[in-house]
Amino acid sequence: MANAGKGLEGVVAAETALSDIDGQQGILSYVGYSIHDLADNATFEEIIYLLHHLELPTESQLASIREQLAQEREPNGFVSELLPTLAANAAPMSMLRTAVSASSAKDPDGWDVSEAANYRKAIRLCAVFPTLVAYYHRLRSDEKLIPPDPNLSLAANFLYMLKGDKADDDTARMFDTCLVLHADHTMNASTFAARVCAATLSDIHSAMTAAIAALKGPLHGGANEAVMKMIKEIKTADKARDYIIKKFANKEKVMGFGHRVYKTEDPRATHLRRMAKELAEKTGDPHNWEISQEIEKTVMDEKGIYPNVDFYAASVYGYLQIPTDLFTPIFACSRVAGWSAHVREQYADNRLIRPDHGYVGPAPRDWTPLSDRG
Ligand code: SDX
Repeated sequence: MANAGKGLEGVVAAETALSDIDGQQGILSYVGYSIHDLADNATFEEIIYLLHHLELPTESQLASIREQLAQEREPNGFVSELLPTLAANAAPMSMLRTAVSASSAKDPDGWDVSEAANYRKAIRLCAVFPTLVAYYHRLRSDEKLIPPDPNLSLAANFLYMLKGDKADDDTARMFDTCLVLHADHTMNASTFAARVCAATLSDIHSAMTAAIAALKGPLHGGANEAVMKMIKEIKTADKARDYIIKKFANKEKVMGFGHRVYKTEDPRATHLRRMAKELAEKTGDPHNWEISQEIEKTVMDEKGIYPNVDFYAASVYGYLQIPTDLFTPIFACSRVAGWSAHVREQYADNRLIRPDHGYVGPAPRDWTPLSDRG
């Protein structure tokens, strides 16, 4: 009994209308739309709308959600005061976890947990995550804060606030596609954490905080940063094969590979691989691309394991000159769309999530007085 369902593998923990995966065939969809169509055509704002309304927006609905998102980009005063301290003391994911938790204190909707208030809070959270990450980075780098530009998309505005220069259209579109690809993924660990928290009828900020905490780990969202560290450690493509073989000999996991559900290529990795290749060509710097190719080939030859979303995301963000320790916070900037939609879905048809256990401790035994214990 102890090992049955270890890691809840194969257990249906909740019903959802938000996304679906066929792990055998490598199919992912959001609300019925193929991830390939969404990656090729959708903007992240359309995905936020889709996940929260279960339909693609009309032109006027899209204009309206864009405007709402653009208006909610500034953190509230309490969080703005907290950010310099966090920038001086905390790692990026710890900052995000704390700042999002702190955001609840001054949310304009206060402790209103109505459906309408929760929707407004969800949009506010989607809008503010990128600003928290960009402001944090500029504060720790002693650089002037760049206020959000309401005329830019969420993706383009993030790059602008982070770097201080407006990205060209191709770069902004590529980053937007990264956000589209990461927005939701059924019952992954962080989404499940958010739903468990929400199912106690705790508030949406608490659920987002729980989700960030779960995403941070290297077996989940933290893997993209670990991939870039591995690429840097390998240094040149000709050293990749030996490095990976040594890792396997030491029974270590190669970050960015394997998945609980996909038994074939993760369809998001297909797009991220293409983008990494395009960026390698565009920048004239094939370095990360060549090392990644060699890693992928070796892992496939040795273990038959496919790359997951985190593997090529690392190269793409690297080519976009984003600091490595912001990769996982960027994952959160996208996944907050899915988390918040899942939490609203959970509230709409709630039951406490409380699994059972398999006991493996000692059989019932007699109490031993302190004086008789060896
Ligand atoms: C994400 O679920 C989601 O939706 C998550 C995600 C999302 O969008 O939210 O897709 C994002 O979190 C991607 C995963 C990021 N993590 C990593 O890249 C870390 C490296 N990967 C692995 O540790 C692992 O593949 C997991 C954590 C992703 C999945 O773990 P499982 O399902 O518990 O699988 P397992 O560890 O039991 O592995 C099964 C077998 C084992 O071999 P055996 O003991 O049976 O011989 O596959 C091997 C593992 O050793 N294996 C690996 C491996 N992944 C699996 N061996 C080496 N390197 C790996 N990466």
